[in-house]
Order: sequence, then C-alpha cells, then structure tokens
Amino acid sequence: VYPIFAQSSMAELGTDIHKAAAFLKQGNPVAIPTETVYGLAANALDEKAVRKIYEVKNRPLHNPLILHLSGKEELDKYVNDIPTVAHQLIEHFWPGPLTLLLQKKETVPEIITHGMPRVAVRVPNHPLTLELLKNLSFPLAAPSANPSGYISPTQAEHVQQQIGTKIPYILDGGNCTQGIESTIVGFDNNEVIIYRLGAVSMEEIENITGDVSFYIRDENTPQAPGMLLKHYSPRTPFYLTEDYLLTIKNMEEKKIGLLLFKQPKINLNITQQEVLSVNGNLKEAASNLYAAMHRLDAANLDVIIAEKFPDDGIGKAINDRLERAAVR
Ligand code: TXA
Ligand code: MG
Repeated sequence: VYPIFAQSSMAELGTDIHKAAAFLKQGNPVAIPTETVYGLAANALDEKAVRKIYEVKNRPLHNPLILHLSGKEELDKYVNDIPTVAHQLIEHFWPGPLTLLLQKKETVPEIITHGMPRVAVRVPNHPLTLELLKNLSFPLAAPSANPSGYISPTQAEHVQQQIGTKIPYILDGGNCTQGIESTIVGFDNNEVIIYRLGAVSMEEIENITGDVSFYIRDENTPQAPGMLLKHYSPRTPFYLTEDYLLTIKNMEEKKIGLLLFKQPKINLNITQQEVLSVNGNLKEAASNLYAAMHRLDAANLDVIIAEKFPDDGIGKAINDRLERAAVR
C-alpha cells in the first residue's frame, strides 16, 4: 500500500481515470474533480483507505463523509426509507450538487457516519469522475480536498499546493464549474430541511418541493458535527462587511485585499482587488469565489476585506461561506 506520509514527491496530475482507479483499488486516496469543488476520495467500503482521508486533511475523526455514487441506481445498496420528496429531488438534481441525508443501511461502514443513523449521498456531475465511478465496484467517500478548516479547492493546482505531498494522484478535471459545495438536505417525513446551503439554491428546491426549512444548529446534539462554524478560512485575517469603503478607511495603514461582487464605481487605492463578477452575476461569482480567496491569501496581505453579497439565490450560500471564513 502506498505510504502516504513517506512521500517526498508531489502528487502526479493527470486525466487518466484508470490510473486513478488503480490507486483507489490499492487503498490510496486520490483527489477528484466535481462540479462543486475537488474532493479527496477513497474507497468508502475500505476502512483503512477512508482513514487516510482523515490523516491527509487533518480532519477531526467524528466528522462524517459524503458517499459519492455513480448513479441513482446505486442508492438502494446503501440507504433505506427514501421519502417521496427525496425521489423528486433526485429526479431533478442528480447528477448534480445536491446531497441527501438518508437512513443508512448496514453496508455503510461506521467510519463514514460515526454513529449517525443517516448517511450523506450524492451523484457528482463531472464527466471524468462519473466515468471513474462507473469503473469502480465501490462508492467513493470524499470530503473537499483542503486541509481541514481551510479554503476549498476549485482547481487541481489548489489541491497540489495544499496536500500535494500527501497523495499519489490528482485527477485534473479543470476548474469546477459551480465553485461552491453541494447543498445538503435532510427530511422530516416528507418535509425538506436544509443543513448546508450550496450550489443548489433554496429557491430552486422550493420550486420542486414547496416550502423548506433550515436546520437550526444545536451545540448539544451531534446531528451535524461537521457544520463547523469556523470553516473555509484563509490564513490572512478576514473581515466581512456591509460597507467596505468605511472598513477600508478604518484600516488605512494596512496592506489590504478586497473581495468584491461587482466592479466598484470608483478606483480604490488598495493592494489587491478581486471582482467575482464584473456584471454582477451570482452564479459566476460563486464559481470564482474560492480561486479569488486562494489568490488573496497567497498575496502576503495584512487583511482581506470581503463585501456582503445580495442575500438571494446562490448569494445566500456565498454569504454563508464568507461568514464562516470571518469567524476568528
Ligand atoms: O460539494 C460537496 O459536497 C463536496 C464534493 C467533494 O462532493 N464535498 C464536501 O464534503 O463538501 P465535506 O466533507 O467537505 O462537507 C460535507 C459536510 C460536512 O460538514 C459533514 O459534517 C456533513 O457534510 N455530513 C456528512 N455526512 C453527514 C451525516 N451523515 N450527517 C450529517 N452531516 C453530514
Ligand atoms: Mg469541506
């Protein structure tokens, strides 16, 4: 078996799904592209292989993992009691960036769910990864391929920079088209509960199912231990503000990086500026978000200031990520 920490070289970057499959079959983790962010994948049915994901990411062991399937036909192998409304969502959004929390079967190893009665499942929508999954006889467990707590990767190069010395292979699928993690939903009978905002907006779900509600965090129940408050965080001090002009004014002596939705109307005298969508398109902004955060964090700034986004559509998910990035 590939020695993950004895590796002196960087991961190989390529588009060979058979090579990726070979590493996975040997029990090694491989980074895979999805439409949302890159995942750090391992054979979900091999406990030792899954354990390596936690080691590479330095992820707390109680934080459960999403099961990535090759298609909805695989679902019955791993879950029970699928509500009608879940079937509707599957028909609409799979393959795609929607993760469902469903009653797990015995076939799902303990290391995936850590004592929870439900397992998170999705079918990712990326041609290379779908082809890879169809070549495997097991599903892939895959969290985002970043060190725990850090900004998620949306390009193979981000993975290479963050964990490249710890894994043998990165399947390079180019830039992730959505750029923000999957939306996670659970069910109370036939009611939809959103656990994590993501690439599928609340409005898109409500168009299919009618009103949804939000999971309310309760620190006393281990329902969703991974929905950690501090998350997606750059190493540079990060502030989220409603009025970036005012915030900049209060930090005059500093080397400032600015993360903006649209092109500002005036020329600002700051060190580095990232505009996520010149024309103010939220979907485009989401797809550019993490790459811009990676660039800002690599620019040796004293501080990064992000503006609050419009709170509708995918803007809600962007604000969620920015809020968590700003938690100290
Ligand atoms: O878009 C995505 O979902 C990406 C790509 C790679 O598929 N994956 C991803 O995984 O974002 P991760 O591990 O970074 O985030 C998944 C979240 C975590 O907060 C985890 O705690 C939660 O889902 N989760 C996983 N299984 C769960 C379960 N059985 N019950 C409650 N929460 C769960
Ligand atoms: Mg993550």
